[in-house]
Amino acid sequence: MGAQRFLPAEISLPALREAARRCKGCDLYRAATQTVFGDGAPDARFMLVGEQPGDEEDREGAPFVGPAGRVLDRALEEAGIEREAVYVTNAVKHFKYEPRGKRRIHRKPTVGEINACRPWLEAEMRLVDPEVTLVLGATAARALLGPDFRVTRHRGEPVPRREGAYYVATIHPSAVLRAPDRDEAYSGFLADLTVAAGLP
Ligand code: URA
Ligand code: SF4
Repeated sequence: MGAQRFLPAEISLPALREAARRCKGCDLYRAATQTVFGDGAPDARFMLVGEQPGDEEDREGAPFVGPAGRVLDRALEEAGIEREAVYVTNAVKHFKYEPRGKRRIHRKPTVGEINACRPWLEAEMRLVDPEVTLVLGATAARALLGPDFRVTRHRGEPVPRREGAYYVATIHPSAVLRAPDRDEAYSGFLADLTVAAGLP
């Protein structure tokens, strides 16, 4: 169990992306279409970390291209974060779902799956080494900030990662879409992104 033994000898983003295509570090590769690796500027100031690819991401092979990605794109623009300054990835690189008729229903990754996949995320973090890492939801928080971190309590608060670099946790953009009051949820999400955008 674990992605570590699938990591390439040469550590670069293109080499990682290629090697991740063949990862069997947990069982999630079996039912998914393909590995959805991170994407974006290799020298990005902002790294965005989600949970796992969704249905559309699984088909297209790129992160945040579905409904949650559209919420994210709008909020990034409104927060003044340029898409070119961003690297987007997920804590878990394969789509986990349950078939229901013709649909595929998202299922939450387990702690074991998050841990198995973490070597990819850690390698991306080391290479991109962003100044600001936006942690989108509880799964990404678990992967990056540990089991004791509570997004609901500490969202929007910069957490130091190294000298001059921070994490900022917020809710997942899918949670905005599921919220009883979408406008209110979106405003909170945008406020957290605005904090991240304004960091020194
Ligand atoms: N949700 C995520 O966490 N990541 C994606 O790439 C898409 C939806
Ligand atoms: Fe490997 Fe991660 Fe996919 Fe599991 S989810 S097979 S660890 S890439």
